[in-house]
Amino acid sequence: MHKVAVRRLPARPRKRSKSHLSATHFARAATVGDAADVALILAQFADEGQLLPRTLAEIEAAISDFVVIVDGNDRVLGCAALTEYSPSVAEVGAVAVSRAAQGRGLGSLAVRGVEAMARRRGIPELFAMSRATQFFESLGYAATSLDRFPEKVARYEALAAQGIPVTPKSCFTKRLG
Ligand SMILES: CC(C)(COP(=O)(O)OP(=O)(O)OC[C@H]1O[C@@H](n2cnc3c(N)ncnc32)[C@H](O)[C@@H]1OP(=O)(O)O)[C@@H](O)C(=O)NCCC(=O)NCCS
Repeated sequence: MHKVAVRRLPARPRKRSKSHLSATHFARAATVGDAADVALILAQFADEGQLLPRTLAEIEAAISDFVVIVDGNDRVLGCAALTEYSPSVAEVGAVAVSRAAQGRGLGSLAVRGVEAMARRRGIPELFAMSRATQFFESLGYAATSLDRFPEKVARYEALAAQGIPVTPKSCFTKRLG
């Protein structure tokens, strides 16, 4: 199975006493066979307005832009995706972890997996739209104005025109070293 060339990163040490998912969990490139699992994970958060809705067909079509977080049995517990708007503008989105596996560093692994993918593609900067301020700040992202990314504004306008509700979120950015 093809794996993303990202370092196998253990989850960060926790401040509180939590069971460890770390050593046996890692990020790998998603395959079409993962699309249904990714769709299930994203759907629960899209229903709550935390993520934009994505159909299974959309996920399958963009599967080469997805990273999944899997356990030792290759069970998909989380994901994240890279969306390229131009050679210099790209978004890390669709970041989600199954509820039972949250709080153990897997979301951070997913974002770092997408960052590694972006670096390999020569992308200098990522942005993210989220209400999870502390999550993105803990990964080195800083708040910025959405106006910097007119491609994203245009996408929101297109969704609104289709009647798809867009929940207000904050914009974050990070330059990739
Ligand atoms: C956001 C999300 C991906 C985090 O996944 P996770 O595996 O629980 O994240 P991590 O364990 O790597 O958390 C890293 C840090 O981010 C912060 N954090 C985690 N979830 C957060 C949330 N929902 N809101 C704000 N901060 C959060 C915590 O401070 C944590 O630091 P700690 O270790 O000191 O507690 C997960 O909560 C999720 O799936 N949320 C629903 C979808 C969503 O909102 N995605 C983001 C928009 S793309």
